[in-house]
Amino acid sequence: MQDLWTKVDNYFGDLLTPADEKLDAALLANEQAGLPAIDITRLQGKFLEFLVCISGARRVLEIGTLGGYSTIWLARALPEGGRIVSLELDPHHAEVARANLRNVGVLDRVELIVGPALDTLPLLEKTAAPFDLIFIDADKQSYPQYLHWALKLSRPGTVIVADNVVREGKVVEPDCDDPNVQGVQRFTELLAAEPRLSATVLQTVGTKGYDGFALAVVLS
Ligand code: SAH
Ligand code: DHB
Ligand code: MG
Repeated sequence: MQDLWTKVDNYFGDLLTPADEKLDAALLANEQAGLPAIDITRLQGKFLEFLVCISGARRVLEIGTLGGYSTIWLARALPEGGRIVSLELDPHHAEVARANLRNVGVLDRVELIVGPALDTLPLLEKTAAPFDLIFIDADKQSYPQYLHWALKLSRPGTVIVADNVVREGKVVEPDCDDPNVQGVQRFTELLAAEPRLSATVLQTVGTKGYDGFALAVVLS
């Protein structure tokens, strides 16, 4: 199936996300710097752009920057004056991201904070919150805590998006010993149990295989 998913992803990607030298350059820079190719796909980038656009988000929080590919999509979708805070553990990833964001011309809209997100999230409570849209895409083991922080840093109407909640379907394995899968399972249980959230999951296939996004909105 992977071949077909790739073909279809390229079919729609070629039509709906026109060739973009700066985005391609960012992916090339990531590769040359040895970063893992675990960024979202271009159609998924377009999906994040769509969410920023329909939600009217002006303040965005991203947890897990990597080389800034998703950050670029989010930043470009912002209205004038919009801002993104993006949290990244690895200083090397952050350095590559900074160069990519500068090259694309959106660095002035992005605040990159380096360190373990669980240490840096509390700093945002007084300074940058509430956020209008929060994209969770860092280590999967910490997704439950990231959801906790997302709620703390939100307001009614905030959109919360989490990448990689399907993990090639491993999420349905009850005794899975992979801590990433366990993190995503616990995250989904918390989503389900949280009365302040209304949530769904969108399974995805494409050039990056089989995975999915959790999508939630803060009700109160
Ligand atoms: N959002 C990116 C991909 C992120 S990959 C994109 O789609 O382009 C996940 C990133 O989370 C990696 O760069 C990894 O270094 C970072 N990460 C892992 N653990 C983290 C932590 N505890 N705090 C912050 N970032 C973390
Ligand atoms: C991994 C992380 C991601 O954010 C992703 O989109 C795909 C894979 C990983 O850590 O394996
Ligand atoms: Mg991801």
